[in-house]
Amino acid sequence: MSKLPHITTSIFSKMSLLAKEHKAINLSQGFPDFPIDVKLKNIITQKIQEDTHQYCPASGHPELLEEIAQVVKKSYQREAHVEKEILVTAGATQAIFTAIQAVVHTGDEVIILDPSYDCYVAPVLLCNAKPIRVSLGSNFMPDWESIQKHVNSKTKLIITNNPHNPSGRTWGEDDMNQLKLLLDEFKNLHLLSDEVYEFITFENKHLSAHLYESLHKKSIIVSSFGKTLHVTGWKIGYVIADEKIMNEIKKIHQYMVFCVNSMSQHVIGAYLSQDGLKDIKILYKKKRDIFRKGIEKSRFKLLPCEGTYFQTLSYEGVSNLSDIEFTEQLTKKYGVAAIPISVFSQDNQHHKMIRFCFAKENSTLKTASDLLCKI
Ligand SMILES: Cc1ncc(COP(=O)(O)O)c(C=O)c1O
Repeated sequence: MSKLPHITTSIFSKMSLLAKEHKAINLSQGFPDFPIDVKLKNIITQKIQEDTHQYCPASGHPELLEEIAQVVKKSYQREAHVEKEILVTAGATQAIFTAIQAVVHTGDEVIILDPSYDCYVAPVLLCNAKPIRVSLGSNFMPDWESIQKHVNSKTKLIITNNPHNPSGRTWGEDDMNQLKLLLDEFKNLHLLSDEVYEFITFENKHLSAHLYESLHKKSIIVSSFGKTLHVTGWKIGYVIADEKIMNEIKKIHQYMVFCVNSMSQHVIGAYLSQDGLKDIKILYKKKRDIFRKGIEKSRFKLLPCEGTYFQTLSYEGVSNLSDIEFTEQLTKKYGVAAIPISVFSQDNQHHKMIRFCFAKENSTLKTASDLLCKI
């Protein structure tokens, strides 16, 4: 008998395959199509020749852990303890899976805010726990009254995602204050803060859970080098949590992967020590603006994009199809692949919205927006 009878192939694999079959421009799955930094490439060449091919310590290559601590300190003024509070993971996906296994027990409840990225539900189900899907407001911002109504003494975890995939919205101070109040009120409640797009925000400053000391003891904060350094295929990220929670996470991590592949750890450690993090905001802001400008004159309606590399569009007034049918039509007939938003929610209700990834060459964005303008 299947442990996950309702879980099917992810929409990202499905749409990427459809795009390939129909030779459509693939703006569905979230991955960059442009080259990585030459400096990163040069470090790879150099590190391949060095002794970087054996197991790293289970928590991570010491140089990389140090560099992560520096990034967190510089970005959020938090002093994360290098040995006790940081863990390098095989992407954010493994970080999230491991964290959920570590803190969630049979019968616990976990709040997931819909529309939500697709890697939260399965690990909760595997803990024999209950995902409680709470809808974000129609503007994709948290509805605190509704969230409050769904939290009780059985709620172990709330999973937040800011900047938000798929909507591209970012949380404000009020949201962070509400979150703090909620965690204060419910002693059993912990926070899993998925911040894989932490360095991709535009007009607004990213309000990380790292910034609030009162959240540190109860939070697990996840990031992804895949997103930050445009190396999604390397599957490397990290998680930061208070020592007590981290000890539990590490117990599971050591039997899932033991340690993340050594080469990427050495390479990223050296890269960060030389360069720090480049301001990727500038790069993505430019791409967002090119794409938005290209779409402006189309029949689609642009929704706000404050962070991430996703732009959501409404096709109300363009088609009456469901968003799943519409993205299929878009791929097959018009040559651009996107993701329907309804698949990110439990109720699968569609509101005529689709998501495009703009982490693409400017020329790709231009061609795609020209095609969309013809509809
Ligand atoms: C919100 C969110 N969380 C987690 C992940 C997974 O990141 P990784 O590729 O590092 O596992 C993604 C990837 O698209 C994402 O968008």
